[in-house]
Amino acid sequence: MAGVAVSTTINGDAVEYLCQPDETLLDVLRDRLGLTGAKEGCGTGDCGACSVIVDGRLVCSCLVLGAEAEGRKIETIEGMAHGDQLHPLQQKFLEHAALQCGICTPGFLIAAKDLLAKNPSPTEEEIRFGLAGNLCRCTGYDKIVRAVQDAANVMKGA
Ligand code: FES
Ligand code: FES
Repeated sequence: MAGVAVSTTINGDAVEYLCQPDETLLDVLRDRLGLTGAKEGCGTGDCGACSVIVDGRLVCSCLVLGAEAEGRKIETIEGMAHGDQLHPLQQKFLEHAALQCGICTPGFLIAAKDLLAKNPSPTEEEIRFGLAGNLCRCTGYDKIVRAVQDAANVMKGA
């Protein structure tokens, strides 16, 4: 089967690929494009490890078809740092030791980026609510919340 031809934009770059009609965007990113930052934790929209931003909206890429990326703008974890320069959220996750196994971390970072783009000064409650779709079995969440608070302060001062 030839597949579906898709033209899209990923992290600012024009990208074209062929995928099967039933292939998820997560599988396309990981298996066809080599963008393995988004992880498959559940495959059913429950864990947030596969989070990406599509046209400014946070989505679970395991619930989106690769074909649905046609004409859209996709942001993945691979686009967060600029060369050696980490995004403030990445830097603060490191400083606060807000990750252990790290499987969930790309999803948390993308969800936090989306949150701060929409609400640059979130309260702790708003951060917890904004990250409610992301599960982590390791950190207990407090370090993640503090990292996001700290990054928000840095970004406001930037
Ligand atoms: S892998 Fe997509 S939400 Fe868990
Ligand atoms: S750091 Fe292990 S699941 Fe989050």
